[in-house]
Amino acid sequence: MLELKNISKTYGQTKALKSINLSIPAGKTMVLLGQSGCGKSTLIRIMNGLIQADNGGTVYFEDVQITPKNALELRHKMGYVIQEGGLFPHLTAYQNISLMAHYLGWTEDRIGKQVTKLTQLTQFPPEGLNRFPSQLSGGQRQRVSLMRALALDPALLLLDEPLGALDPMIRSGLQADLKHIFQTLGKTVVIVTHDISEAGFLGDAIVLLRDGQIVQQGSLTELVHTPSDPFVTQFINAQRSPIEL
Ligand SMILES: Nc1ncnc2c1ncn2[C@@H]1O[C@H](COP(=O)(O)OP(=O)(O)O)[C@@H](O)[C@H]1O
Ligand SMILES: [Mg+2]
Repeated sequence: MLELKNISKTYGQTKALKSINLSIPAGKTMVLLGQSGCGKSTLIRIMNGLIQADNGGTVYFEDVQITPKNALELRHKMGYVIQEGGLFPHLTAYQNISLMAHYLGWTEDRIGKQVTKLTQLTQFPPEGLNRFPSQLSGGQRQRVSLMRALALDPALLLLDEPLGALDPMIRSGLQADLKHIFQTLGKTVVIVTHDISEAGFLGDAIVLLRDGQIVQQGSLTELVHTPSDPFVTQFINAQRSPIEL
């Protein structure tokens, strides 16, 4: 689905990404895991062509190289939820979800049917569709962001810390819902998190990043039992609950 080759990204003195090579297979959920500042958001933005890698790096989406020229069109096939949710505050939930479909000339009837399907899938209360983002709970806003990303039925779904701002109970409920949604849709998903249990719960594969480089790629079991580097174990242990129950 996605093939990243030799991806580096430099911002002034900061090397946000250093020679990343990564293959994202179709139909799987891949998690980008790592501490704040390790380059997760930069990598996901390079995947959908929002920013460009340094010279020499290439990204192929379904065997087509992403360039500044075709990025806009290719992005219609990639749903994207940005880290802060990114809903337009002056548009209702319905308007946020349907914005791109309107732009692309879908009929009102087709849009209505798609929104109904998505509210069922994400278990969003239909009466909330006419509310503005400020009139929705944090969890409901995340469902709207997800519906907006899914509106054009994309082949690939890119989610940047979609649950980051939620309190723990809401978060664990939404994790279960997300997993169910991924399984139902069978789409290719790339999801960013800094939470190892979330990564293990949602991901078919985990890519652990540190300082712009891949430290290890594999299942949670592989990271726990066959760490490639002492950092892997440190990262896992740092997130173990200090409370013994
Ligand atoms: N537009 C930018 N300009 C300058 N530095 C940036 C920019 N975006 C990200 N960075 C830097 O690149 C590094 C990686 O950032 P980011 O990809 O946002 O990390 P993460 O999402 O893992 O927290 C950080 O050091 C960050 O400060
Ligand atoms: Mg980020």
